[in-house]
Amino acid sequence: MGRPATRDAFGEKQISHNNTNNDIDLTMSAVLKTNESIRLMRHDDLAAVIAIETRAYVFPWSKGIFHDCMRVGYSCWIYEQQGIIQAYAIMSVGVGECHVLNLCVDPEIQRQGIGRRLLQYLQTQATACNVDTVLLEVRTSNHAAIALYKSEGFNEVGKRKDYYPATQGREDAIIFAKAI
Ligand SMILES: CC(C)(COP(=O)(O)OP(=O)(O)OC[C@H]1O[C@@H](n2cnc3c(N)ncnc32)[C@H](O)[C@@H]1OP(=O)(O)O)[C@@H](O)C(=O)NCCC(=O)NCCS
Repeated sequence: MGRPATRDAFGEKQISHNNTNNDIDLTMSAVLKTNESIRLMRHDDLAAVIAIETRAYVFPWSKGIFHDCMRVGYSCWIYEQQGIIQAYAIMSVGVGECHVLNLCVDPEIQRQGIGRRLLQYLQTQATACNVDTVLLEVRTSNHAAIALYKSEGFNEVGKRKDYYPATQGREDAIIFAKAI
């Protein structure tokens, strides 16, 4: 992911989403099962989001970063099952391309297909915004995420040296891209 969210990413030209409309767009959620829903993130979701974020990442985003993502109009999504927040995703949408900045599933329920369905949902949203390329970064050590992106048709297009903080020093990012 674009972790940490960089100033460059925040400076991208954005197509804003209507953050006041929290209805599920059923035409966009064809990949979902009946007990699942995806809706726009709200500021009052952030306690639950941070609770997942801090368990899922060694270097989690702060609440301030999530607030900023919503403030600047990034595409911020909550995945719920029966009203319980279990995953979320954040994507910046620019002219022709989008950047997945965060995709995270509660560690308690990982490997049940939720990450894949949320990623597919993001791609559907990106298509609706006339985007033709999805970009993202991932830690070289994040084998689960790398397997997910490869299986969804993403291709490695580059590396960013020392992009992430690590427990010892820094860690490289792999840049993935997918034409949609
Ligand atoms: C990466 C992440 C989003 C995947 O979500 P998930 O719901 O656990 O994954 P899914 O069940 O949808 O799995 C989809 C595919 O990803 C790969 N995958 C997922 N977890 C894996 C694991 N632990 N080991 C190897 N491959 C894995 C597999 O290819 C899997 O397909 P399969 O189950 O048919 O083999 C999730 O592990 C997560 O939130 N991790 C912490 C946050 C993170 O690292 N986000 C990505 C930052 S770039």
